[in-house]
Amino acid sequence: MKKKVYIKTWGCQMNNYDSSIISRILKKENNYDIIDTSETADILILNTCSIREKAQEKVFHQLGRWKNLKYKNPNLIIAVGGCVATQEGEKIKERAKYVDIIFGTQTLHRLSNMIKNVHKSKNTVIDITFPKIEKFDYILKPDVSQVSAFVTIMEGCNKYCSFCIVPYTRGREISRPYNDILHEIYQLSKTGVKEINLLGQNVNAYKIFNKNGTIYKFSELLRDVAKIETIKRIRFTTSNPIEFTDDIIEVYKDTPKLVNYLHLPVQSGSDRILKLMKRSHTISEYKKIIKKILKIRPNIHISSDFIVGFPGETSHDFQKTLSLVREIKFDTSYSFLYSPRPGTPASKLLDNIQEHEKKQRLYTLQKLINQQTEYWNKKILHSTQSVLVEGISKKNIMKLSGRTDTNKIVHFTGSPKMIGTLVNLKITHYYQNSLKGELI
Ligand code: SAH
Ligand code: F3S
Repeated sequence: MKKKVYIKTWGCQMNNYDSSIISRILKKENNYDIIDTSETADILILNTCSIREKAQEKVFHQLGRWKNLKYKNPNLIIAVGGCVATQEGEKIKERAKYVDIIFGTQTLHRLSNMIKNVHKSKNTVIDITFPKIEKFDYILKPDVSQVSAFVTIMEGCNKYCSFCIVPYTRGREISRPYNDILHEIYQLSKTGVKEINLLGQNVNAYKIFNKNGTIYKFSELLRDVAKIETIKRIRFTTSNPIEFTDDIIEVYKDTPKLVNYLHLPVQSGSDRILKLMKRSHTISEYKKIIKKILKIRPNIHISSDFIVGFPGETSHDFQKTLSLVREIKFDTSYSFLYSPRPGTPASKLLDNIQEHEKKQRLYTLQKLINQQTEYWNKKILHSTQSVLVEGISKKNIMKLSGRTDTNKIVHFTGSPKMIGTLVNLKITHYYQNSLKGELI
C-alpha cells in the first residue's frame, strides 16, 4: 500500500516552494501519496521558517501534538526541516527524541534517502549541511498544470542585514546555471505556464562566471526568458537595492514582458536606521533607482517591505519612513514589527521601544499604505487592463480570476477556455485587495 505523507509548511515563499519540491520528489521517487491530514499519515513533515517569528517554540508545540500520533503508531516517521532545523540541528533531537529526521533548507532533496535510512538506523537521521548546488538538480517538473509558476534562480544571501536570519539558515548566495533555468522554463511553458516568477532571496545578485571570464548577469537572464515565445509575463521576487544595477533597469525599456510592478524592499525611511540595519545603501540611493525606473515606466507600481520598531528607532526616524512612503507612493507593501532573531547582530542591540508604541507605529504605517493602495486602485477604475487569466475564482466558482501586470487580482465573468490567456477587462469596482472587471 502507498505510504501517505502530510507536510505542514510555515512561512515565506521560498519555504512554500521548498515544500512543493519535497512533495514532488516523494511522489516521484518513492511513489508516496501527499495527503492533507496528519491523523492517517505514515510520514509527517514539518517545514519551518523563522524569518519573522519565534519559530523555535512553535516547532516544539507542533511536535508535542505529533508525539501523541507517534504514541498511537510507533512506525510513524516524523521529519523536521527548513530554517529552524538548520539552526537548531541536534538540539531538536535533545528536546524531542521521537523526531526521526532533521533536514536542512539545502538537503531537502535527500529526504527520500533519509526516510529509507530511518528504517536501517535506530538513531535520528540528521543532515543540515549546505552542499553547494545539489538541491537544484532535484527540481522536478511540476505535475499540475498552472498558468503562473515560480522558478528558483538563486538561493541564499551574503548581505547579512543585522536583523536577518536568512544568511544563517539558507547559506551564501548560489546561482543556478542559466541553461538549467531556461530549460526548466521552456519545459514549464510546454505544460501551459504563461507567467514565470523568478525566485530567490536576492534575484538581482544572480550571476554565473563563464569559462571565458565573462559574467552572465540577471539582466541577461531576464532577456533570455523573454525570448521564450509562449511566456507572456516575467516577475521576480525578491530583489534588493544593492546590485539593482543600470543594466537591470535598462531591461524595463525593451522588454514589455517584464511586468509593471516592482517589489524592492527598503525596510526604513531613515538613513540612521538603515545604517544600524547594515542595509549598505542610503535613502537617496534608493530613490535614485526608483527615479530611473519611473523615467522608463511612469506607471509602474512599486511595493516594499518595512520593519517597524527596529531597536533605537525614534519617532523622528519613523516619520521619515512615513515621508518616504508618501513620496514614492508605494502601492501594496508588507510591514512587520521588528522581531529579534537569535544569533543576529541586531538581537544584541538594546530594544528600548515600548510594545504599544511599536504597535501604534505599525498601525499608522499600514493605514497609510492601505490609503495608497486605494489611490492606485481608484486610478485604474474604469480603465482597460490586460489580465492574465489564472483560473476559477477562489471566492466564487462562477467567476474567473486573473492578474493585471501591476499585480492586482481581478475577478470577472468569462469562459474557462480563457484560462491561460490574456484578456482585456474594463475595471468596474475596486476593493482593498482585489478588483472586479468586465470583458470588453
Ligand atoms: N531579500 C530581501 C528580504 C527577504 S526577508 C531584502 O533584500 O530585503 C523578507 C522580509 O522579512 C524582509 O524584507 C523584512 O522586511 C522581513 N524581516 C526579516 N527579518 C525580520 C525581523 N527580524 N523582524 C521583522 N521583519 C523581518
Ligand atoms: Fe535578509 Fe538582508 Fe539578505 S534582509 S535576505 S540579509 S538582503
